[in-house]
Amino acid sequence: MAVKESIRLQKYLAQCGIASRRKAEEYISAGRVKVNGTVVRLAGTTVVEGVDRVQFDNKTVTPETTLFYYLLNKPKGYVTTVSDPQGRPVVTDLIKDCDARLFPVGRLDFDTEGALILTNDGELAQKIQHPSHEVNKTYEAVVYGHPGKARLQQLETGIILDGAKTAPAKVALIKKMSSTSLCRITIHEGKKHQVKNMFKAIGHPVTSLKRTAYGKLSLNKLPLGNARKLSPSDIKKIFL
Ligand code: URA
Repeated sequence: MAVKESIRLQKYLAQCGIASRRKAEEYISAGRVKVNGTVVRLAGTTVVEGVDRVQFDNKTVTPETTLFYYLLNKPKGYVTTVSDPQGRPVVTDLIKDCDARLFPVGRLDFDTEGALILTNDGELAQKIQHPSHEVNKTYEAVVYGHPGKARLQQLETGIILDGAKTAPAKVALIKKMSSTSLCRITIHEGKKHQVKNMFKAIGHPVTSLKRTAYGKLSLNKLPLGNARKLSPSDIKKIFL
């Protein structure tokens, strides 16, 4: 019989479909994970599948055998978590035909709509979110006023947000309306409220925001509130 190797707790939790490795580390330090009945707060702890009993929120978890991948067109008014202490609607409510425990990859604000990947594959989630993969995310933002070329250029080269320079972005002005403009922006970073903060920093706050694509995987005609299963070739497009 093959001997299972020991793996880090956060990687094990990712394989169990709990979350990406990074998010699993947060759960570990929050005291939500037990190994053999004892709360473990050290992410470096190692476990062996089939030998150690791992619990998340007091439920025993085991590695997922079937992996699922969905692209959701998230409407406004949903939280990108699997449960919400305030009782607001959560994005997983919108996936009707899957019994697996799915979680969202990254986040979209409550009032942001658009492309959101949900999966039970913690390793893929980790890959999409890890800065080294520089996965592009494209957004359409309606902003106040009519930003001029120089302002948009500032976003393209990088601006200082919270003391750090943002990575170069691709930005285009698509359409001018009477008091607002529609802009498209592609970034590979994913700091909290990043797009809103970037436009605010150049004096053109966002009035509504939609993510239209991860890499070359776009929403196309997926209706708002609907989800579709992703094929292996769709998944490849995320990294293009
Ligand atoms: N940037 C934001 O400001 N909000 C989002 O929801 C996503 C990116």
